Amino acid sequence: RMEKKIAVLAGDGIGPEVMAEAIKVLKVVEKEFGIAMAFEEADVGGCAIDKHGHALPEKTLDVCRQSDAILFGSVGGPKWESLPPEQQPERAALLPLRKIFDLFCNLRPARVYSALASASPLRPDIVGDGFDILCLRELAGGIYFGQPKGREGTGPKERAYDTMVYHRWEIQRIARKAFEIARTRRKKVTSIDKANVLTSMVLWREVVVEMARDYPDVTLNHMYVDNATMQLMRDPHQFDVLLCGNMFGDILSDQCAMLTGSLGLLPSASLGASDFGLYEPAGGSAPDIAGQGIANPIAQILSAALMLRHSFHREDAASAVERAVAETIEAGLRTADIARGAQRPVSTTAMGDAIAERVRRS
Ligand code: NAD
Ligand code: IPM
Ligand code: MN
Repeated sequence: RMEKKIAVLAGDGIGPEVMAEAIKVLKVVEKEFGIAMAFEEADVGGCAIDKHGHALPEKTLDVCRQSDAILFGSVGGPKWESLPPEQQPERAALLPLRKIFDLFCNLRPARVYSALASASPLRPDIVGDGFDILCLRELAGGIYFGQPKGREGTGPKERAYDTMVYHRWEIQRIARKAFEIARTRRKKVTSIDKANVLTSMVLWREVVVEMARDYPDVTLNHMYVDNATMQLMRDPHQFDVLLCGNMFGDILSDQCAMLTGSLGLLPSASLGASDFGLYEPAGGSAPDIAGQGIANPIAQILSAALMLRHSFHREDAASAVERAVAETIEAGLRTADIARGAQRPVSTTAMGDAIAERVRRS
């Protein structure tokens, strides 16, 4: 099949606002780079609960199964927080999608654009000329999915629990990715764990050490997650690939995002064993700013670029989109989240227009 089929799952909150800008950019890519794309929209998340009674309707899953990639916005929000937890959009739609397609490998590249150094909350002498961290997060295991999970009893004896569990093969496959990717970068892997307390993390560290023997050209070090949160702020330049389990990667990637200026800048790619992938911003539905047309579309647009690279193998188009984003920032355009001092913020659509226009001229 020549044409690439993309399942477009915009979801809730700012999802549809930022998704429109990513599609705008992809339509320019389609023309300029000769990549035929068919976009199929499907309901997901809270809006799917409202319309169909389920956060991940069977029809949506079918659209995903018939596609080459999923472009995902974000799901969830206050409206659905009073539902039973298993029915809420995050747990009934996003986690099942990751699990069904076995998307265990989540790439969250946090890069500081030189023109945006002043948007970082870090001091200029710490940001320096920018840093480039790849947060690599295991996405289909760990405490998110471990069994048993449950809640039982009443009164003070009521209890609730989750299970943090990792199998050797799960650690092996994500660790292998970390070393392979590090080889294409600065050849450094920092494995994040809590091996001083958690048994699952003792195994994590052991398996990562074993895997490192296959990669003598890559430097491996280990860091406890508490120290890592501190080290990220003290000196982000020391990191290249951050190898994390599911929960620690969730937490550290938000921190990495803010160190680059905003959560609205951080894209992600969720990959499995094939070319199929799910691409989404690391941030969420941002209910505090939804509907105002001020959300930053860059994370969604950069997620589309990751799709072009990892699912469609079009490095030319992917880097053109990334360059267009960098140039738009260099030209001074700022949405509210990355505007500082006297900078006048632009809208979501103005940012999307400017990036699309630069891709057109590339
Ligand atoms: P959030 O990521 O939605 O927002 C955190 C903060 O970052 C907010 O102040 C928000 O305005 C800001 N922000 C996030 N993206 C932005 C963007 N593109 N531009 C400008 N500012 C941006 O996290 P939250 O508030 O903890 O969660 C809100 C809802 O989103 C919850 O229901 C949560 O479960 C859900 N969520 C969904 C996803 C997802 O679908 N992938 C990811 C994270 C959170
Ligand atoms: C993310 C989000 C999700 C996660 C939630 C919404 C399930 O925070 O993609 O980072 O915790 O993985
Ligand atoms: Mn998160």
